[in-house]
Amino acid sequence: MSTRRKPIVAGNWKMNLDGAKARSLTEAVAARAGEAGSVDLVLCPPALYATTVAAALGLAAGNSPSGVALGGQNAHDKESGAFTGEVAPGMLRDIGSRYCILGHSERRTLFGETDATVNAKVKAVLAAGLTPIVCVGESLEERESGRTEAVVSEQVLGSLAGIPAADLAKLVVAYEPVWAIGTGKVATPQQAQDVHALVRSLLARLSSPTVADTIRIQYGGSVKPDNAAELAACPDIDGALVGGASLKADDFLAIAKAFG
Ligand code: PGA
Repeated sequence: MSTRRKPIVAGNWKMNLDGAKARSLTEAVAARAGEAGSVDLVLCPPALYATTVAAALGLAAGNSPSGVALGGQNAHDKESGAFTGEVAPGMLRDIGSRYCILGHSERRTLFGETDATVNAKVKAVLAAGLTPIVCVGESLEERESGRTEAVVSEQVLGSLAGIPAADLAKLVVAYEPVWAIGTGKVATPQQAQDVHALVRSLLARLSSPTVADTIRIQYGGSVKPDNAAELAACPDIDGALVGGASLKADDFLAIAKAFG
């Protein structure tokens, strides 16, 4: 983690919880957000509970009294239209969201999203005034066959193609090795740092070293309170995208504190 970049820790709740649990978890995180120190906290609930979380955070006119922000888990690349079951970026903004996860590996592998799809979504989400959290990461088979660099490079360059430096400066990248997601198998700090440094060099190629130096890169994949500190100590790891451990306020806040 660098002193130049404010850490960002986001909870990806995926398709979990119900309305009452979403509310109580939000209230618990908001009440204790100060424990995390100087870190941006983001909650990404299922779309159906986004308004529940917005209300529990007391979001009004873009302000969050607790400082905790709301994010989506996905968005469509069009602003409106005949897209049954989809959520538009403007709708997320309308209910007070500031962030949106895009290109999560579950979207890529289970819902057929490609770098081109993700690229269109990144542009739409930026146009709606939200901060995209753009996910990249290699599978186990890709790592074991020595293709991590090639795969991650292709994802970063493809997902972020044609985005001006001024917009790149606004987004967040999440490196999430697929083999570490929900498996309890975390990347070693060295493995994570190596890919984060690669991602930053790619961002520099797409913009400039000065801009790349300001972009926050989160690590995701089995981040827990007991491994967060060693990840936070790495120079290019600027926060975490947390799945399972974000469903418990204690664990989520302990992870945030390790970065704060
Ligand atoms: P995990 O998920 O923390 O449960 O491994 C991370 C993610 O998918 O963003």
